[in-house]
Amino acid sequence: MTKKINLKTTFLLLITLNCFTSVQAGFKPLPKWMKTAVFYQIYPQSFKDTNGDGIGDIPGIIEKLDYIKWLGCNVVWLNPCFESAFQDAGYDVIDYYKVASRYGTNDDLKRLFLEAHKRNMRVCLDLVAGHTSIESKWFKESQKREKNEYTDRYIWTNDSTIKPEKFVSGTFERNGTYMKNFFDCQPALNYGYGQPDPKCPWEEPVTADGPMKTRRELMNIMDYWMGMGCDGFRVDMAGSLVKKDPDLTETTNLWRYIRTHFQDKFPEGILLAEWGNPQLAVKVGFMMDFIIHLRKSGYDTMFFNNVGTYRRDTCYFDVKGIGTPDYFIKNLTTQLSAVGENGYICVPTANHDYQRPCCGDRNTLPQLKAAMTFFMTLPGIPLVYYGDEIGMRFIDGLPNKEGSQLTKGNRAGSRTPMQWDGSANAGFSSGKSSSLYLPIDSLTDRPTVETEKKDPSSLLLFTKKLIALRNKYPALGSRGEIKFLQSKENSYPLIYERKYGTESFLIVINPAGKKVTVSVVYDKTVKKVTPVLGILKGENVLYKKGELKVIASPVSYGVYKID
Ligand code: NOJ
Ligand code: CA
Repeated sequence: MTKKINLKTTFLLLITLNCFTSVQAGFKPLPKWMKTAVFYQIYPQSFKDTNGDGIGDIPGIIEKLDYIKWLGCNVVWLNPCFESAFQDAGYDVIDYYKVASRYGTNDDLKRLFLEAHKRNMRVCLDLVAGHTSIESKWFKESQKREKNEYTDRYIWTNDSTIKPEKFVSGTFERNGTYMKNFFDCQPALNYGYGQPDPKCPWEEPVTADGPMKTRRELMNIMDYWMGMGCDGFRVDMAGSLVKKDPDLTETTNLWRYIRTHFQDKFPEGILLAEWGNPQLAVKVGFMMDFIIHLRKSGYDTMFFNNVGTYRRDTCYFDVKGIGTPDYFIKNLTTQLSAVGENGYICVPTANHDYQRPCCGDRNTLPQLKAAMTFFMTLPGIPLVYYGDEIGMRFIDGLPNKEGSQLTKGNRAGSRTPMQWDGSANAGFSSGKSSSLYLPIDSLTDRPTVETEKKDPSSLLLFTKKLIALRNKYPALGSRGEIKFLQSKENSYPLIYERKYGTESFLIVINPAGKKVTVSVVYDKTVKKVTPVLGILKGENVLYKKGELKVIASPVSYGVYKID
């Protein structure tokens, strides 16, 4: 199929990053190290078990820091590791000042910070700011009849028969129902209401005593771990703390206050949001936010097929080749220009809440390399979700583990043990009842780090090369511009330019199982097109008088340097 694309219908999306606003009004600048950050997300229970209890632990993470560094990643983000009831895998915290004993001790975590810093790496923790476990001491105190320090730290109605939406009833000493934040076992901490309704006395203004104390406590928790050597936080459900705040006025006041104090004390520390809308998150005061499955980002239209936590009939990265990247591109480019240099976006390979790239019938090496090429050549900060670098599969049909099951689907399939070596469960004691996720015993052909390290054609070594390229060329790095050369008529292949100063790269990715040939306008004088990585070669991209002819074989990808 050869189609010449009409200039009029070709849409060129140019992102001109605003180079004049490197300091957002009112804030200290972003730590410089963010510019070259490459994240590696670790789900601690499934990463590396060192004491044979079948649960990953902090000593295991320390043991694998050299591996993460070897891959090219320099920042680790750990899913929650504090004392928890584990009804939502650690997102239901019991004690924010104590590492869960199954992962080790506070000293182990302190040692992790230290060992990371020795290697010029950094560690961010997950800060579950919006809710605790129903089993936390704070909540237990809060449900008491007598007024005490914690009475107003949660949101309680004043009558157990009043149950507005999201409120939960139970057997409590006090007469009331409480507001939840996610699952019923996760009562919302009280940060107050942006627009409290005087008819509902539990809707307190943000300046009330309870909300102010909650805010102070959150800042104490942050100070405590930063003092131990932590490098920053990913804030869970970051936009949800202040209730009924449609214009985000009070949410903004809250985070501006926290960021200002945080940066006064820890100018190198970072604050990341789990929001799903970087332009809002950054405006509010966060330094980075994720483009993920949340908030109609278009991520789903790129990667979610008919298997996984969230399902679709088809998507762009599918051999059927009937998807379109338009929606994702539109959101990405809007977000990038809105965020400018005030923050970063991050489009992760996956996370613990949704499916991995290796999912359903997207499971071959070329398919996974095509997806990895995409993730590692986007602007912003890249993130490798543990195991995606070796092509670990999203495993369907697992039982509910520690709250992995949602109404829409199960998250357990993305949370299985890291496949270090060929032994059953690779460092996770097989057969032990405490072992969290044991399905991989039954899988044959599962990739492991051990085998992929030795295989020159592996996804692991390919990912390492992609990260190295990013680190070498600013055009491929976080602040390089992106310009899509996509046409509405020809959704495949995906073609985009990355550029920084005079340096330019071209990326071609064809997830479709059929050969596609397109010509796109390329308004630039090109002397040389040099393939640097991928299966597409010199003959696949031909430049002639302001136009690129791209011949992409089925399921192919290539990174080219343009001179
Ligand atoms: C988002 C987290 O990523 C998810 O795993 C968790 O269940 C909810 N927030 C509730 O904390
Ligand atoms: Ca262990």
